[in-house]
Amino acid sequence: MPSKTHIHFSKFLLVQLTILVSFFGLKAIAQKPKQPEKQIIEPAKEWLDNKANPINAHGGGVLYYNGIYYWYGEHKIPGKSEEQFADGGIHCYTSKDLVNWTDGGLVLGVENNSSNYDLEYGCLIERPKVVFNAKTRKFLAYFKFYPKGNGYEVAYVGVATSESPAGPFKYSHKFLGPSPKGSGDFSMFIDDNGDLFHLAVRKPDKAFIIAKMRDDYMLPIEEYKEVKNVEHHTEAPAIVKINGVYHLLGSGSTGWKPNIARYYTSTNLYGPWKKEENPCTGFNKVDSLGIEKTWGGQSSFIIKVNGLKDAYVAMFDVWRPEMPIKGRYIWLPIVMKQNKFAINWLDSWNLDFFKQQSFNSKK
Ligand code: DGJ
Repeated sequence: MPSKTHIHFSKFLLVQLTILVSFFGLKAIAQKPKQPEKQIIEPAKEWLDNKANPINAHGGGVLYYNGIYYWYGEHKIPGKSEEQFADGGIHCYTSKDLVNWTDGGLVLGVENNSSNYDLEYGCLIERPKVVFNAKTRKFLAYFKFYPKGNGYEVAYVGVATSESPAGPFKYSHKFLGPSPKGSGDFSMFIDDNGDLFHLAVRKPDKAFIIAKMRDDYMLPIEEYKEVKNVEHHTEAPAIVKINGVYHLLGSGSTGWKPNIARYYTSTNLYGPWKKEENPCTGFNKVDSLGIEKTWGGQSSFIIKVNGLKDAYVAMFDVWRPEMPIKGRYIWLPIVMKQNKFAINWLDSWNLDFFKQQSFNSKK
């Protein structure tokens, strides 16, 4: 039979245990679970940030600065469709490995009821891209900007600046670019000598055009020219230069619906460009889509991976215009085959892929 002391001690233990469980249990509820460290990128699946919230950075681009990747994209307002004006500004996330992303919040936001401010809620802010100007030491954010009330009629380039890559960015001005109707999807490409170029699709004829920007990167410094041999209606351009050759990955023009990718190479940004074969291969099982729809994605940017030779990542968006915040991301490694892109669908991957690649090519 258990002694009286034994029974007292067991009761004491039980009480202590209950206190401990309820204390830590409550703490677990109060603190939202932190997202465990991820090891892989899974294209087209839901991607969570460090707070376990879905990443909200659509149509974006990535800037590498001082050991950190900054991912800037369209912040979509929860519960709003594109028709109900979902654009809330530019959202930034940071990462050291391109896999785990920390929420850096809104770095440029729209404002409610402020008709004397260009970025009034109801305007459209799309495809933000950020560059660093080594001369002025400023960070500049560019975005496709449609002022409130005009729909997709006239497209400006919006410009905002910051002293830090983490923001906040301050809206500076807008410019129209190549025509009175402006220009749409674009790329801001910095060449080896620091010159910045604006390449975009002109409105309304959809020709692909180019102009060099001023040294301070704030405005174009020359008349826009038509780029030679890039088809009309080329949207979503992403450009990189590899061993003296420019590579342009883009899409056709079908609104929010995906279409087949377009790929060009050239030794001159102004052209002539050479149309290459579609570099995409494989099948997206998440959305059951193949390369005739670019796996359901539309290109937005190409990331150069720091510290690895010939390591590039192609970024695509899966748009969901009826609930844009639910849009997803397809990121895939670019392999260079005979100096041309090859982008194959992978269900999951990480940066070790590139180490494996260079190992294979040395064999
Ligand atoms: C395609 C563009 O690439 C997107 O940024 C967006 O403007 C949609 N068209 C709108 O239809």
